[in-house]
Amino acid sequence: MKRGEVTKGSAWALVTGAGSGIGRCFALRLARLGYRLVLVGNDLRKLECVRAELRALDAAEVRIISCDLARAEAAQELYDRLRAAGIAVDVLINNAGIFSFRDIIRTPAERIERVIMLHCLTATQLCRLVAREMAARNGFAAEPGPESDADPAMRTTPEGDAPTTTGDAPETCSAPATGAASAATNSATGSAPAASAAAGSAPTTTGTAPATSPAPRRRFHILNMASYSLWMPFPGLTLYSASKAYLKCFSVAFAKEVREAGIRVTAVCPAGVATDLYGLTPRWQRIGLRMGVLISADCCARRGLWALWHGQRCTVPDWWNRLWIPLCKLLPMCLIRPIRRFTMKFQK
Ligand SMILES: NC(=O)c1ccc[n+]([C@@H]2O[C@H](COP(=O)([O-])OP(=O)(O)OC[C@H]3O[C@@H](n4cnc5c(N)ncnc54)[C@H](OP(=O)(O)O)[C@@H]3O)[C@@H](O)[C@H]2O)c1
Repeated sequence: MKRGEVTKGSAWALVTGAGSGIGRCFALRLARLGYRLVLVGNDLRKLECVRAELRALDAAEVRIISCDLARAEAAQELYDRLRAAGIAVDVLINNAGIFSFRDIIRTPAERIERVIMLHCLTATQLCRLVAREMAARNGFAAEPGPESDADPAMRTTPEGDAPTTTGDAPETCSAPATGAASAATNSATGSAPAASAAAGSAPTTTGTAPATSPAPRRRFHILNMASYSLWMPFPGLTLYSASKAYLKCFSVAFAKEVREAGIRVTAVCPAGVATDLYGLTPRWQRIGLRMGVLISADCCARRGLWALWHGQRCTVPDWWNRLWIPLCKLLPMCLIRPIRRFTMKFQK
């Protein structure tokens, strides 16, 4: 078996921003590795297209959830949807992102909120919710706190209790399903990880380490899409680079917190990827690829997943750009000023 590969349909992967660009490529690669997929994004039409592509690849199972993740309550709503459907995630890819190139004083307050919520708050909350559940499935539990009793992730359910939604209907985050929408049709093989993990053998303990099983039984993975721009706190990029710096910093420390529970966390920091993120036309994307300034979305996904399976905490997939990191830090204002004058016209 290849690294990251699972028995077809035996594990779930969730990809945010899966309707286009790098997220789509993550989804295609994870499907080929055998994962059942939950695709999350803003645009239902794009998600449907990716689902059709995945079906053509004979993917195990694909669910789509339409959800605006740039809202304070988005992570909890999404997590509740997963619980209602009996889905426990083995691989979480926090990929959704929006680019922002504008001086802060010219940026609408609402845009600042959305970028920070999407890149920082939602990603953090999703990591927390999903990792708590992963840790519990490996017999680890958070220290008892005010929320631990209320959190369903910390409860184990007997095998066969996890409801699984049926049918192809896309779901939205804003209207959580009631029990009626979820048919209790857990697969006989127990392939739904919620059920298999909660088969009664994963004791929920207090404290950070399990009393009886020192080695985590299952390996879980979380990938957060940061950006190379975190080393480029330049005018116009202030909001974007700072939000991605948070995500990278968070991921590296979080990786150390959850490693013992069998969870690997990786921050991926690409420089230039040929996608629609910056509004580059297909022609300029092709030129960028030919010049080696950009890498393809699939290459970024492949290298990101490689780093994830190998337990790297942070990776720059277009590795040659690592050489410029010290230079970015040293760039003097006398060089930044003319660059700024030239790039001001691209601020929208
Ligand atoms: N392209 C690059 O050069 C580059 C470099 C460094 C880092 N990155 C990061 O890589 C990630 C993927 O970007 P990409 O290049 O693949 O660009 P992309 O094609 O524009 O993909 C971004 C995805 O995020 C989704 N998204 C945006 N806002 C959302 C929201 N509020 N709720 C839910 N989904 C939302 C989009 O969904 P909708 O289309 O449905 O809105 C889209 O599928 C981003 O985090 C980006 O910051 C990209």
